[in-house]
Amino acid sequence: MRSILVVGGKKLEGTVSIGGSKNSALPILAATLLISGETELLNIPNLNDVITMIRVLRSLGARAEYCEPNTVRVWTNGAIKHVAPYELVTKMRASFFVIGPVLARMGLAKIPLPGGCAIGSRPVNLHLKGLEMLGAKINMEHGFVIAKADRLRGNRIYLDFPSVGATETLIMAASLAEGETLIENAAQEPEIVDLANFLIRAGAKISGHGTDAISIKGVTSLKNEDSYKIISDRVEAGSFMVAAAVTRGHVVVKNIIFEHIEPMVTKLKEAGVSVTVKGNSVVVQAKKRVKAIDVKTMPFPGFPTDVQPQFCSLLATANGTSVVSESIFENRFMHIHELKRMGAKIRIEGRSAIIEGIPRMSGAPVVASDLRAGAALVIAGLAAKDDTIISDVERHIERGYENFAEKLCALGAEVKEII
Ligand code: UD1
Repeated sequence: MRSILVVGGKKLEGTVSIGGSKNSALPILAATLLISGETELLNIPNLNDVITMIRVLRSLGARAEYCEPNTVRVWTNGAIKHVAPYELVTKMRASFFVIGPVLARMGLAKIPLPGGCAIGSRPVNLHLKGLEMLGAKINMEHGFVIAKADRLRGNRIYLDFPSVGATETLIMAASLAEGETLIENAAQEPEIVDLANFLIRAGAKISGHGTDAISIKGVTSLKNEDSYKIISDRVEAGSFMVAAAVTRGHVVVKNIIFEHIEPMVTKLKEAGVSVTVKGNSVVVQAKKRVKAIDVKTMPFPGFPTDVQPQFCSLLATANGTSVVSESIFENRFMHIHELKRMGAKIRIEGRSAIIEGIPRMSGAPVVASDLRAGAALVIAGLAAKDDTIISDVERHIERGYENFAEKLCALGAEVKEII
């Protein structure tokens, strides 16, 4: 088990460049299974989660590899297999995304049911209900979901909750279905728009992506002529903006898409942080302790749950009392227990964390319970007194941040990997 040592108290200064979006890369890689022939994807972050998805694609009979540091090519000639391996799907929930493409292309998919995880039970009922609405027969056997349909048929599907994953599964499945599908109460996240744009480039007929009603007119095949560049990672951008603010630093965050990070920018400004936009960069500067604010996570364009833990680290040293409410996942406060070990004054009441800001936290040995909680603890360590050691880094932070420690060090932080 590898750990990260953060020496607190260094101001972050300089420029950091944001990489490609993990949450776009994963469904788009799954969607390559819908395409006949070769697909080239650019701006793919080099991350453990992406490597897991590449292994899933290979297990299904595709050829997939990084050909340059951030370029992945996938070849899906001929038939693909319909069974995804248990060890890969349980390792990463997003592997379940292959169910839509495999079913649409092969008429049969046997995919292990992903388990719960540290942030909540995370069921897949909405994915399965939607596939049933498209005509699939779904059964459970020995922990696997078995979905069958000779040809999926378009339908009107209302999602009980605008689930990102379910919307993606259904866009992929409906792209090769017969007739038209309308997904209502669809998720509107930028990663959904990216997936739709990728599929449209390959010949899919999709409209309304980015709104809550997405229409998909099924086609019989998809083919990619050009390479596709995925969007930049709004969660990585948010994490670096918070890291700049917590250290009262001055950082230029490059390669961002402003509309995607606007909810976080708005909240940082409300907390008294200066954020100015310059083209596809933002300049983040904090000169003093931030002000307490209230934050509530919501589906996009609301405040993203994936930066809630990082904001908790920032607000732990704010002036005043903040309330952070988590409305997407039922159990996403594991980082709070670790922040308290660093001296933070936080109590959890139902789905809210009441954070009484203190002037400074103190370093402590802490454990990353999930990917974003891990990043939040590193960020807390940057501003804390003395050293913080975050363990279980490999299993978490490296799943979703490319060169996190290196990028922080380039901004003047002292962050080291220890064995
Ligand atoms: C995706 C993101 C994740 C982000 C989340 C919310 C990827 C790979 N992951 O996860 O980083 O935090 O969106 O923005 O893109 N739900 C159900 N039934 C379902 C599906 C979801 O009840 O069938 C519930 C979940 O338990 C959760 C909520 O809906 O409480 C949101 O989940 P969802 O939007 O599906 O998140 P993911 O796609 O898993």
